[in-house]
Formats: sequence, structure tokens, C-alpha cells
Amino acid sequence: MKLTAQNESIYKFLIPMSQFPNAEGMKNQMGLNIEIGIGNGEYFTRNALKHPEQTFLGIECRWTYAARALRRIHQAGLRNAYVVWHDARVLFERYTKPNSLREITALFPCPWPKRRHIKYRLFSRDFLLILNNRLRSKGHVRIVTDQEAFKNWIMDQAMDTGFVVTSQQIPARLDTKYERKWAEEGQKQFFEVYLVKHQHHKLSPTDTPNMNTYTVNHFDPQKFHPEDVHQDVTLRFKEFLFDPKRERAMQSVVIVEGPLTQSVWIKIDRVGPIWRILPDMSSGVIPCRGLQLAIDHVHQEVTKTSS
Ligand SMILES: C[S@@+](CC[C@H](N)C(=O)[O-])C[C@H]1O[C@@H](n2cnc3c(N)ncnc32)[C@H](O)[C@@H]1O
Repeated sequence: MKLTAQNESIYKFLIPMSQFPNAEGMKNQMGLNIEIGIGNGEYFTRNALKHPEQTFLGIECRWTYAARALRRIHQAGLRNAYVVWHDARVLFERYTKPNSLREITALFPCPWPKRRHIKYRLFSRDFLLILNNRLRSKGHVRIVTDQEAFKNWIMDQAMDTGFVVTSQQIPARLDTKYERKWAEEGQKQFFEVYLVKHQHHKLSPTDTPNMNTYTVNHFDPQKFHPEDVHQDVTLRFKEFLFDPKRERAMQSVVIVEGPLTQSVWIKIDRVGPIWRILPDMSSGVIPCRGLQLAIDHVHQEVTKTSS
């Protein structure tokens, strides 16, 4: 679904991640029911309708699904349900506070059954440690899957993460798109994993570095051609704009750092006798190591233009 004026009304339920902790209804993270990977939002919407006194937050990383869920929320006339369209790992790691959350649900998270894809599974030990840190005492995570091997893997990952872990087999009863798919193919039993926090796992605060910016004496936009970088962080340099009258250049760069992908503009502008190199932080850019690498790389390439 495209972002158009006609469907604008559904966007009041979409919360930009950078505003998540301060958005209306979200300030009290303790009272939130969070669902990760809401898909088209069927279970999420029903749950929010059933409990109008509570607040529901759905996290979905694919826009087509998030948009369907938003439409469903709008059609149900809900006032207590919101969606963040982003990767859950980034949201929990960077935008939630320790000891702040009450319950988290994930129904049929992607099981990534192939061995070489296991690294993409969401409920790894590292992610479970973050969830433990963010949940308050006795807060819980409920995960339902159709795959026994995936259930076993989650239980292994959860060892020594501060959770009491139990699991049980359950019949089809959640009525989501994915549950119906497996039930129609004949599956009768599904696997529910329940993790209750009993010990707090301390984590060092997420590293949000102060960005180092640069000034240089010389810059020749004609000679500026930054190349992409493919290391543990990927930098893809896109559009380059230069306004000779204002002596201002803008370089767009896509930064991929683990689950976090951001598109950022880096400014190179003349102030008196010097050129400044600094990121445009106006559009909710998250300060991170990848952004610093992008600034460093632009600086390096700007310096080369003086030779
Ligand atoms: C197999 S579908 C299940 C959808 C729904 N819960 C259901 O039962 O029909 C998994 C959903 O999780 C979403 N998802 C996968 N990884 C995610 C992540 N890291 N953050 C947020 N959503 C994610 C996918 O886009 C997809 O919508």
C-alpha cells in the first residue's frame, strides 16, 4: 500500500520508532502489551478489542504487513493499538528501558529452518538477554511456533538468560494467517514456549557514541567519488548534490549495521574559510558506529580531493 492522502487516517496508529518512548499512550511502557511480528494484525487487533483498558504495541518489519495491520486497526475503530514499522531488535535495544516492560508475544516468528539461515532467527541468546533486561520482574515472553526443532532451539538459547522456561503443545487456537496455513495442511499441535523473568540480567547501556565531525580547508566536489564499503558495516553511497552558490554538498549514504539500516545525508558545507563535514540528524537518524564510519569515510574522500 502506498502512502497517499486517502489512507492517511491509518497513519495515526503508526509510531515512528524515534518517538516511541514519548508517543501518546506509550509513556508508561509498564502497561504495554507488545507483539513482535504482527503480520496482518489479526490476533493483535482482536486482543486490543478484547482489552480496551490496555495499550497494545505491534512491531512489524515489513511494510506490506504493517500497512494491512494499520488498516485493520482503523477499521476496528481502536484507540488503544499502535504499530512500529521496524526491526524488533533495534526497537528493544535502543528504545526501551531496563525493567520497563510487562509482556511480549510472538506468534509464528520466522523459523529459518535451513542451517545456514539460523543466524537470522530472532530469539537468539543475545536477543533474549536484551528482553530479560527490558522486562520487569515476572514479566514474560510467549512464543508460539509450528516447528518443534525451532522450539527446542529457543529453549536452548534461553538457558542462563534469567528466565524460567516452560513449553507445552497446544491445538490451533490463535486464528492467525500462519496458524491457519499449517492447520489446513494437517498440523494438529503447535508449540508454545513461555519465558518468565526471575533474575535480572544487567547489560551495559547501548553504545550511542557522540559523533565526531570534521573540518577541512579544501574541498573539490568534482573530484569527490566515495566508494562503497563492505565490511562488518556496509556503506552504500548514493546521490550526491552540490549547490555551487551556497557552497554546500549533500552525500546520501545507506548504512547497514546488523539489523539497523538507515539512509542518511552527510553535509559538506563551507563556513568562512573552512568546510564542515557532519551528518544531517534532522530526520530521526540513530547515532551508531556505522554512521561514524560513514562520516570518517566521507572525510577521508574529501581530503583526497585536495591533491
Ligand atoms: C511467519 S510471520 C507470522 C505473522 C503472524 N504473527 C501470524 O501468525 O500470522 C512472521 C512475521 O514476523 C515479521 N518479522 C520477522 N522478523 C521480524 C523482526 N526482526 N522485527 C519485526 N518483525 C519481524 C515478519 O515480517 C512477519 O510478518
